[in-house]
Amino acid sequence: MKLIYMAGKGGVGKSVCSAATGIWTSDRGLDTLAFSMDPAHSLSDIFDIELGSQPKLIRDHLYAYEPDLAEEARGFYRRYKNIFTALFGLFEVEVKPEDFANMPGVSELIFMDKLNDIFVEKKYDYVIIDSAPTAMVLPLLQLPSITTGFVTRVLGMRNKWIGILNLLEKGFGDSILTEIRTMRVKAENMRNALLDPKTASITVVTIPEKAAVEESRRLIETVESHGVHVSALVINHVIRECDCRFCQQKMASQTSYIQDLKSRYQEKQITILPDYGAEVKGDRLNQVAEDLYGKGQMDTVNF
Ligand SMILES: Nc1ncnc2c1ncn2[C@@H]1O[C@H](COP(=O)(O)OP(=O)(O)OP(=O)(O)O)[C@@H](O)[C@H]1O
Ligand SMILES: [Mg+2]
Repeated sequence: MKLIYMAGKGGVGKSVCSAATGIWTSDRGLDTLAFSMDPAHSLSDIFDIELGSQPKLIRDHLYAYEPDLAEEARGFYRRYKNIFTALFGLFEVEVKPEDFANMPGVSELIFMDKLNDIFVEKKYDYVIIDSAPTAMVLPLLQLPSITTGFVTRVLGMRNKWIGILNLLEKGFGDSILTEIRTMRVKAENMRNALLDPKTASITVVTIPEKAAVEESRRLIETVESHGVHVSALVINHVIRECDCRFCQQKMASQTSYIQDLKSRYQEKQITILPDYGAEVKGDRLNQVAEDLYGKGQMDTVNF
């Protein structure tokens, strides 16, 4: 199973590229899941199809999935209630299940957990991850060390309060520890998967404008400093032929950013995606898939 992770600044075309990649791989008979890791889901709009809280087959070989964060958070809260009760109870903070989904890091934790389930199940040849703007990938990489720190601290306190919790209810403290360890193992598995170039590939989507180019540079630098290789770069919204003055000026400025990106990232596969002049959804995705992969710009898909 391969993971393709679409990363990039807000609004640059990550979801469109994720959906089009799903079209391309599924058209080649590869079982594919387009998985939205953005709390503000948009795959259903782009595919023009209603998606539920389970992966849904939307055409031959292609499934799409937008986890319902609120529902997942309730399930997650129930599953890990012991930890939350013990930790937040100890700090005398009351956390209601409905508030839980909005706590920092929780959506990442939930998506990581879902991705891990999908990864373990190995039902798909490709999982395309449509991420939230910029570096949702970083929490995924950092979660193991966060949970490791957490476990270390809990273990350090073990004699102090795990014992006390065990007194309150037999095995309560130990069950918390087991649950945290399980969470850490999952987080580590996912990080290892992302670090393995045979399993995961990150495509950064950008547009030829200053802010986006700068943000992509920082994103690539940070992700690669964690040991994850960014193999491909998509430069989206590139203006094609047009004689009007506005477009001519814009094309000149886009060309300089494109040259800049090409010379800086010579070792990456770079694909130029035109501006289609209209919202990209439904059948238009076939064209995007062709423009992304049709002429071998990016080998199917980055492996
Ligand atoms: N090449 C293109 N030509 C024309 N419109 C495009 C192109 N690429 C994307 N769009 C449009 O731009 C908008 C943003 O695209 P998309 O949702 O894929 O971006 P995103 O990076 O996923 O955004 P977000 O960060 O909000 O998730 C959408 O309306 C989409 O149809
Ligand atoms: Mg998106």
